[in-house]
Amino acid sequence: MAQPAQTVGAVVVLAAGQGTRMRSRTPKVLHPLGGRSMLGHVLAAAEPLAAAATVVVVGSGRDQVEAHLAGIAPHARTVVQEQQNGSGHAAALALDTLAELSGPVLIVNGDAPLLRASTVQALVDAHLGAGDVLTVLTATVPDPTGLGRIVRDAEGRVTAIVEERDATPEQRAITEVNAGVYLGDGPAVRAALTRVGAANDQGEQYLTDVLGLLVGDGAQVGGHRAADAEDTLGCNDRRELAARRRTLNDRVVDDLMRSGVTVVDPATTWVDVTVEVGQDAVLHPGVQLLGATVVAAGAEVGPDSTLTDTEVGEGARVVRTHAELAVVGPEVSVGPFAYLRPGTRLARGAKVGTFVETKNAVVGEGSKIPHLSYVGDATIGEGTNIGAATVFVNYDGVAKHHTTIGSHARTGADNMFVAPVTVGDGAYTAAGSVITTDVPPGAMGVARATQRNVAGWVGRRRPGTAAAEAAEAATARTSDDAQGTPS
Ligand code: UD1
Ligand code: CA
Repeated sequence: MAQPAQTVGAVVVLAAGQGTRMRSRTPKVLHPLGGRSMLGHVLAAAEPLAAAATVVVVGSGRDQVEAHLAGIAPHARTVVQEQQNGSGHAAALALDTLAELSGPVLIVNGDAPLLRASTVQALVDAHLGAGDVLTVLTATVPDPTGLGRIVRDAEGRVTAIVEERDATPEQRAITEVNAGVYLGDGPAVRAALTRVGAANDQGEQYLTDVLGLLVGDGAQVGGHRAADAEDTLGCNDRRELAARRRTLNDRVVDDLMRSGVTVVDPATTWVDVTVEVGQDAVLHPGVQLLGATVVAAGAEVGPDSTLTDTEVGEGARVVRTHAELAVVGPEVSVGPFAYLRPGTRLARGAKVGTFVETKNAVVGEGSKIPHLSYVGDATIGEGTNIGAATVFVNYDGVAKHHTTIGSHARTGADNMFVAPVTVGDGAYTAAGSVITTDVPPGAMGVARATQRNVAGWVGRRRPGTAAAEAAEAATARTSDDAQGTPS
């Protein structure tokens, strides 16, 4: 029977290491993949345990890590490891702050972004089922290079973890490795940690030494092999980061396809773990769905679109579009080549066409902005059509101003709406107008110079050009016609 979730007393995440191999100014555990930081993925995997306390050991880049945690896991407490003396030292600092705690403690490396809640739960079940003092998550991998090896005795019992650099050639041949995820009795692990030395190749206090020490005490220690070795893969450099990102994406895209989403090209479709996509939605090649993006049933996105924190309604079509914090209503058509910036809200059946940029723009049901326009700080009613090449002139160099266009209006091509300005319901504006004052409902706003033709200008000022000759010939034909040439 599955154990109740709160059986784990505390979660300790080791995240103080420098991550030297990343060669980055950003602390390793903050590197993002699939919509969360590495640390965020680890915390998400442990979250269903509903542990009473979550402690993150921070050190390198601690200000950045702490600021990040305040945003993603405000319930987590941090413990500072001033000097990175090893994972054992880090774990000891955390456990020292958890003296009051009952129930086993989960200790997990901060650089295990593929770890899933189901794998953590399986470790908990194995630990409680066996009644071990400490259970380590292990995996059998084709290439164990760089990882701690799990040493078992003739009966298959785990006796030690040996780091690669300290391993004998025989131990190096072992392909069962330490995943860096441990579940143990808090007081017992804390006591063992006080005995961990630094007599190893790196001169660090290894958390992994606790295992051998407990075995030496005669305590019962276990190793639980993860059902899916992928879950246990760490991330130490940028090539591993790319590989983990790919694996994470494959999982997300596979899940989407299983749930009834068409993904035309999984290799070029990138979907964050935080995104939701409805049934029968279609994702075309080159689509990135990021952050809190939600794509409703039957919508189509792509090709080549990046949507961040954006809502796409049922049956909407979003083509070659870059969008952020936008709401695209049902049956809306966007693109190709549209840029929806924050605060864009497109109601049902609206259209934002080619080379159109919108920002803080509320567009009513069925209204259309089909071509080559900038719509910033605007409210547009229902059933309105905005002419091609329109600019909502919202910025006077100091402040932004708002433009309101009513319902069922027809604005001419190449208009400038110099905000603040209002065009009433059912109003029209003439092509080429610079609208600086309000247009009342039903009126035609005309704001352009009256045309004047200077007759014969080309013949006088550009004599001998092709234009002059063409004009002369055309004039001759017209006067022949006027004189009624006999047929
Ligand atoms: C560690 C394990 C190794 C295991 C591997 C799995 C040890 C000694 N070795 O090796 O057996 O196979 O993970 O990926 O633990 N950290 C601190 N403070 C420190 C040192 C490390 O907080 O002083 C943190 C790091 O931020 C990291 C974790 O501990 O999240 C593991 O450290 P890392 O240096 O990545 O250990 P590995 O060499 O990968
Ligand atoms: Ca590591």
